[in-house]
Amino acid sequence: MDERDGTATGLGQRRWEPTSWRGREATQLPEWPDPSLAEQVHGRLRALPPLVFAGEARRLKRALAEVAAGRAFVLQAGDCAESFDDFSADSIRDKLKIILQMAVVLTYGSGVPVLKIGRIAGQFAKPRSHPTERVGDLQLPVFRGHIINDDVPVPAGRVPDPNRMLTAYHQSAATLNLLRAFTKGGFADLSQVHSWNQEFVAASAEGRRYEAIAEEIDRALRFMRACGVDLTSDSPIHQVDLYTGHEALLLGYEEALTRQDSLTGDFYDCSAHFLWVGERTRQLEGAHVEFARGIKNPVGVKLGPSTSPEELLALCEVLDPEREPGRLTLISRMGVGRVRETLPPLVEAVRNSGRSVVWQCDPMHGNTFVSESSRKTRHFDDVLGEIKGFFAVHRALSSWPGGVHVELTGDDVTECLGGIEEILDEQLPLRYTTACDPRLNARQSIELAFRVAELLREN
Ligand code: PEP
Ligand code: CO
Repeated sequence: MDERDGTATGLGQRRWEPTSWRGREATQLPEWPDPSLAEQVHGRLRALPPLVFAGEARRLKRALAEVAAGRAFVLQAGDCAESFDDFSADSIRDKLKIILQMAVVLTYGSGVPVLKIGRIAGQFAKPRSHPTERVGDLQLPVFRGHIINDDVPVPAGRVPDPNRMLTAYHQSAATLNLLRAFTKGGFADLSQVHSWNQEFVAASAEGRRYEAIAEEIDRALRFMRACGVDLTSDSPIHQVDLYTGHEALLLGYEEALTRQDSLTGDFYDCSAHFLWVGERTRQLEGAHVEFARGIKNPVGVKLGPSTSPEELLALCEVLDPEREPGRLTLISRMGVGRVRETLPPLVEAVRNSGRSVVWQCDPMHGNTFVSESSRKTRHFDDVLGEIKGFFAVHRALSSWPGGVHVELTGDDVTECLGGIEEILDEQLPLRYTTACDPRLNARQSIELAFRVAELLREN
């Protein structure tokens, strides 16, 4: 596995194959009870069509290069964990609606183009802090995402089942198919801007604020038409690019969907356009970084508060040895209390290295806590507070705060505290349906978009 191509030295230059990660230490991977069955499933996945195309991943990379250059902003959003049980056209549509609404608010409020990436159509595998959990009297293996085991707290459900990878593949394909139809077939047309506002949102303060923008967009479109501008042929008004992304955690699955591009000979992980390495799996010599460095997709890496500048620069070197614009997204998730102290040395180190990267703020994963009512939750104020800190750090260092990465749903859930229509601890059990981490509901998401648009304007 450690063969070197002649003169090459650093980690980034070692030879690479989709299987190279197998020679490295891997954390967070399931132990399949029957490894030969897992290999059979990998074989079937290898024979199935790619979910996305190399050319699309290249287009996303070019769009991310614009973000890295400070000319665009990226909104990455969706479930913490997609679920086999909550899978319907309506829930996909509602997730798309909220992403489109947030993008409208951000674009309209800031005047900056907004690139959209969903945590969707493949976001199934979850890294966990503990291998087991206690449920009542039972000590159970932890839930690792529906691509691996079941969340139902019974011993049989928690046994990893490789066939779940096929279900995840097919669910991803169906999700992507619907997203492509929605984004290219008229649903995402700007003239539909009102129809994305769901009833339970429209009745709220944030919903009304959104309606006001939608009305102004309508008026602008009418004005342009009246001036003789031919809007019928202008595709950015009628179609939207929505890219997909997920954590490249379950490496057997990702390897099986990695394909050699016939045009360039390069390898692309065709399970999604964008793949990231999580905070728990970003060891420089580990399997996940090894896998990510060889695929040509745009890739990301999560950075928690323990990240040192040296470690980060080494990761940049391995993941982006050619310093290719748009290739690397650094996703900081420090927590509201630490972002202003832990992020500056990292931003400074990257800036001094002369690298061009996308800086994205994940204000969710550093702000999770267990509430008094024993629910895992996050507070809207902490989420917004971390984003504010992220913007302040970048502004002080003349660096571009390139985007946000949030966990949300289009549904009227009660999983995160706060927001204008303040959700209180005692309300959490009302509609707490997430398969993993607590998500912002549609109202909180729109409120957040308005606040981020303000920050962008100030910038
Ligand atoms: C996630 O994005 O769902 C996640 C687990 O994040 P992190 O790796 O930052 O903890
Ligand atoms: Co999460």
